[in-house]
Amino acid sequence: MFDLTGRVALVTGAGQNVGAGIARALAGRGAVVAVNDYHADRAERVVQEIVEAGGRAVPAIFDVTDLEAATRVVRSVAETEGPIGILVNNAGNAGAEAVKMAQFVDMDPKDWHSTFDVNIFGVLNCCKATLPSMIDQGWGRIINISSASGLRGTDIGVSIYSAAKAGALGFTRALAAEVGKSGVTVNAIALGMIPPYEIKASDPVLGERIASIVVGRAGTPDDPAALAVYLASSEASWMTGDTILLNGGSYMR
Ligand SMILES: NC(=O)c1ccc[n+]([C@@H]2O[C@H](COP(=O)([O-])OP(=O)(O)OC[C@H]3O[C@@H](n4cnc5c(N)ncnc54)[C@H](O)[C@@H]3O)[C@@H](O)[C@H]2O)c1
Repeated sequence: MFDLTGRVALVTGAGQNVGAGIARALAGRGAVVAVNDYHADRAERVVQEIVEAGGRAVPAIFDVTDLEAATRVVRSVAETEGPIGILVNNAGNAGAEAVKMAQFVDMDPKDWHSTFDVNIFGVLNCCKATLPSMIDQGWGRIINISSASGLRGTDIGVSIYSAAKAGALGFTRALAAEVGKSGVTVNAIALGMIPPYEIKASDPVLGERIASIVVGRAGTPDDPAALAVYLASSEASWMTGDTILLNGGSYMR
């Protein structure tokens, strides 16, 4: 089960953290993985890890907010590795800019754009670049990495991010409805907290948030990676248009 041998996957923003974990897991199940990031050094490091572990991976350096670049790199991956059948739209947060948390009323409208560019247009661009060949193959898997913030309201200063992540969830459902009969599924994973480093429960700020997680720990990249392997597999052909919550139970609180 969950064998991805013969599949070619593109994972965006896979130079670190969640995306790197997903890239490693897909490669571990036999997929050839195109590791995207706009930081070439990050993508190349993940490629090297995968190759050293016995898998196959190639760097795919482009900015997901640039449709032309996405299309060009997707075409060149197809020429050497075969057409992409699995797309994981993981690049997110604030894209090129650091995440700035602020109450909506205090925000400068020019600070809205980078978050929308990566979390909405990045997803649209990579779907546009890969979907035609998935339809031609009669098989495809699109997995959009979203957030609990796309589903629930919070006052922590992420209103634009919430709007963008929610928009991608609406797109997930509509696209799933459009392409289901072509053998292409489109799903989303709404993640809870997966810090890029190990957080101690004694951390003054984050310790309290971790304590509110039902299973008593923050997530690690291995958590979404396992779910992505399932969604990417042939066994998941009956799941589409869905948003799966993955948050250690914190959504219940
Ligand atoms: N980590 C969390 O706690 C968490 C929670 C909920 C949702 N998410 C979502 O999960 C995804 C991954 O999060 P993360 O914390 O691992 O991110 P991260 O910021 O640690 O890593 C993202 C990677 O994407 C790359 N990237 C950013 N913009 C890009 C672009 N325009 N083109 C190409 N590469 C780009 C960055 O260089 C970076 O290497 C994001 O979509 C995020 O919104 C994360």
